[in-house]
Amino acid sequence: MPVQLTPIDRAKYAAARRAVDLVEDGMKVGLGTGSTAAWMVRALAERVRDEGLRLTCVPTSVRTGDLGRELGLKIVSLEEAGWLDLTIDGTDEFDADLTLIKGGGGAHLMEKIVATASDRMVVITDASKEVKTLGHFPLPVEVIPFGWQASRMLIEELLNAMDVMGTSARLRMNGERPFVTDQGNHILDLALGRIGNPRQLSLALNQVPGVVENGLFIDICDAVVIGYGDGRVEMRDIASGTVEHERIVFEEPDNIFKDL
Ligand code: A5P
Repeated sequence: MPVQLTPIDRAKYAAARRAVDLVEDGMKVGLGTGSTAAWMVRALAERVRDEGLRLTCVPTSVRTGDLGRELGLKIVSLEEAGWLDLTIDGTDEFDADLTLIKGGGGAHLMEKIVATASDRMVVITDASKEVKTLGHFPLPVEVIPFGWQASRMLIEELLNAMDVMGTSARLRMNGERPFVTDQGNHILDLALGRIGNPRQLSLALNQVPGVVENGLFIDICDAVVIGYGDGRVEMRDIASGTVEHERIVFEEPDNIFKDL
């Protein structure tokens, strides 16, 4: 039965398909978290199945690990893998410098550790996540549960001295209870509106006692692959300064999307 995908899902899939072409036999690959990254895991599993690639994959969350295993990928921990060749992940926002806001799915701590333990990080996205100035998407900050209210007060206080438009930090909930990350922590979502100086903000946030990691990715991402609903993809590489345009052909949608 043909599966009808929304234009956004087609865009995410197109970006994912282009990005997995960067994976070569024998690589150690970091697998991101989120709906776009899930397309990438599927597309990567297709390549492994069709081309017999031998890959070692490190997931950035329990759910990505489960999906990868289910699709037959070899999943190991970062400790086992050591260092990675490439990490492919989604994002919540990105700007022209490829500074990112991540953590909408609550996995930015593991995502940042895995991305920075990789030679290269490539982000896959649809075009709606590109912004001139970061901050429209609430910035996730992972905090340990002990004394999270005190951490929140200190964060709100420091935001007064930062180049941002808002100062409220909201505890992320999962129904009636606080959301819990894979590392057993909570998340504060900072409604900032606009982040004038991401580097200064990131350094300041990570100094607050109880803060484990914030969702700003600065000088981590090397390239972005932007997908469109009609199959077009644009790949911008910040290191080489190149921009490539291609088109992904959705040749056998029944096959590709059969396990949805
Ligand atoms: C997970 O914590 C996030 O960093 C995701 O990578 C990000 O939220 C993008 O998710 P989607 O691809 O689902 O939009």
